[in-house]
Amino acid sequence: MTRRSILVTGGAGYIGSHVLLQLVAAGERVVVLDDLSTGFADAVLGAELSVGNVADQALVARLLRGHEVDTVLHFAARTIVPESVADPLRYYANNTCATRNLLECCRDAGVAQIVFSSSAAVYGTPPGGIAREDTPAAPINPYGSSKLMSEWMLRDLAAAGGPRYVALRYFNVAGCDPAGRIGQSTAHATLLFKVACEAALGKRGALSIFGTDYPTPDGTGVRDYIHVDDLARAHLDALRYLRAGGASTTLNCGYGHGYSVREVLAAVGRAHGAPVRCVECPRRAGDPASLVAESAQIRTTLGWRPRHDDLDFIARTALAWEKKLSG
Ligand code: UFG
Repeated sequence: MTRRSILVTGGAGYIGSHVLLQLVAAGERVVVLDDLSTGFADAVLGAELSVGNVADQALVARLLRGHEVDTVLHFAARTIVPESVADPLRYYANNTCATRNLLECCRDAGVAQIVFSSSAAVYGTPPGGIAREDTPAAPINPYGSSKLMSEWMLRDLAAAGGPRYVALRYFNVAGCDPAGRIGQSTAHATLLFKVACEAALGKRGALSIFGTDYPTPDGTGVRDYIHVDDLARAHLDALRYLRAGGASTTLNCGYGHGYSVREVLAAVGRAHGAPVRCVECPRRAGDPASLVAESAQIRTTLGWRPRHDDLDFIARTALAWEKKLSG
């Protein structure tokens, strides 16, 4: 039997393009759907790119049938928390409503399995800063709510006989392809590693440390930073799991321990060979003091084995890409 294809929505984006590299390397047949609103066509390596929006049901239905798709990896979304607070309806449209449309197409085309990009943002501010999969979801911004609603749709559709799924709740994704082929190219970045690399290379002024009075060891916010290459591998593990008949599940995707803002800046400074210029600022609205994954479940369920649980490695790959962008 010939293996059917995989549709990767958002495959031109930061995370989707890294997953695509591994799918192509594994010999999978892949088609990418991306509207290029934040992604880059030249990040799509080894697969056909269809430029369009996930909400375009006629286009999605055509792709699913034309490419005999049996698996969908759904990355396409808007992902900036403050933007979601300022313009919630845009997030519910792009993330929740578009996912609903995609799921309807998947159901109608008989798609067997879906891997969905969810987020640690569904937890909001969990007690003690540690989130297990059974910690009650309590998002504190529209971005987190938009992802949680998508999880619910997946759950309800699977219960009604629709595709089985793995929803991966990403923690703080960072770093870039270790081989330097692609990376994080997002304009007007807000994520700590990216901003720190830009500051190190003089592309922006001093980095603002948002809050130095948190109840954490050095007073700055603590997050579970996961290398994008390990995150990508989790998607291939999820695919293998679903193909083997695994039951629908929702899993944290993080290393299970955290680092502070100052520790991240020190790692970027070591990678650069000079300290990153920074200024201490008040807390950023909506930031939890600490957000770290309980990550046992993904290891046992999917057999996921991360390879790059090393802050210095994350910093080196992130900085190498930033230098390439300055080119
Ligand atoms: N930070 C700074 N200065 C900056 C940028 C960030 O001090 O210029 C701090 C933040 O206050 C926080 C930490 O660095 O303590 C990480 O902040 P990021 O903006 O890099 O990431 P967030 O933790 O806010 O959010 C990210 C993604 C969300 C996702 C969430 C899940 O943006 O999409 O991780 O944990 F939901």
